[in-house]
Amino acid sequence: MIILGIETSCDDSAVGIYCSERKVLASVLATQLEHRATGGIVPEVASRAHLRNLPPVLRAALEDAQLGPEDVDAIAVTRGPGLLGSLLVGLAFARSLGESWQRPVLGVHHIEAHLLANQLEREMVFPAIALVVSGGHSQLMLLRAAGDYELLATTRDDAAGEAFDKAAKVAGLGFPGGPVIERLAASGDARAFPFPVARLSDGGLDFSFSGLKTAARLAWEQEAPLSGQRLADYCASLQDAVIRQLLDRLARSLRGHEVRACYLAGGVAANRALLAAATEMLTPLGIPVHAPSPRYCTDNGAMVACAGALRLEATGESGSLAPFPRGVLRSWGAAF
Ligand code: KG4
Ligand code: ZN
Repeated sequence: MIILGIETSCDDSAVGIYCSERKVLASVLATQLEHRATGGIVPEVASRAHLRNLPPVLRAALEDAQLGPEDVDAIAVTRGPGLLGSLLVGLAFARSLGESWQRPVLGVHHIEAHLLANQLEREMVFPAIALVVSGGHSQLMLLRAAGDYELLATTRDDAAGEAFDKAAKVAGLGFPGGPVIERLAASGDARAFPFPVARLSDGGLDFSFSGLKTAARLAWEQEAPLSGQRLADYCASLQDAVIRQLLDRLARSLRGHEVRACYLAGGVAANRALLAAATEMLTPLGIPVHAPSPRYCTDNGAMVACAGALRLEATGESGSLAPFPRGVLRSWGAAF
């Protein structure tokens, strides 16, 4: 089966083409540079940019895959969570392609697409534990199978990616913050700034990054402007504090669960220091840790196509196409 995936939940207009033999045939995206000047995403600007970007991105994806519309069996599109206006543009685009190509259109949950991006380059094994960390989400999930999910923890306030993005904004490092902070952190001392790891008073597994965000801002304001080695130390300390919290929750979530693998997913999973630290922690326990290649960790169309293909093949259902700005991932079979 060849399936085309469309992703417009935030500021990337992306189209991917995936073939069930687990191969990405194309993955093209236009990142909206319009938001650089404002230092954050303006929803109205994002919707208009998706409208402009989608036709050329689609053309490029079909060209890369050397396919025509007649070769595509189905179309998958992100229907939430995300910015409502952006989702609507992607959904309208997918529906009109479905109409003119006479193909089924499936709505995909953005978190599921991130999770199943792990299937793009290798065969996933179950049961597994998954850490989904991006600019909008921080979740721990138990995966019993593709399509069978249990949410173990979520964030009480900000997402992990937001800690990177807000620290980068304060430090004038641009948007998104994760990639530049990871690069600078490589030559920094992670012990230089004593950033906190939040622990919840109820001892629960949920994440909290708002305290770290504030600590990072205050530390910057005390010494600003930081540069050279001190800036590298700042980035290394921040990255380390995010990783320590993620690993703390990951380690505790494993109690009482026998898993065969750990999957990292979402934009923050592009961080290779996180992958290395999780691998170091879980390898002695006999749990292999995997993350997609960085380009499939951040938003892309191939992951949407893959999630759509797996569900269509397993259930034959295309489901609803109503957009939703918020909503937890449910297992296949449960209405979402
Ligand atoms: O999954 P994604 O592309 O969009 C959302 O669904 O939110 O994730 C974007 C987030 C941003 O917060 C960005 O700073 C973060 O992923 N990110 C990283 C890295 N690359 C992207 N965070 C840490 N290290 C990275 N290398
Ligand atoms: Zn995402």
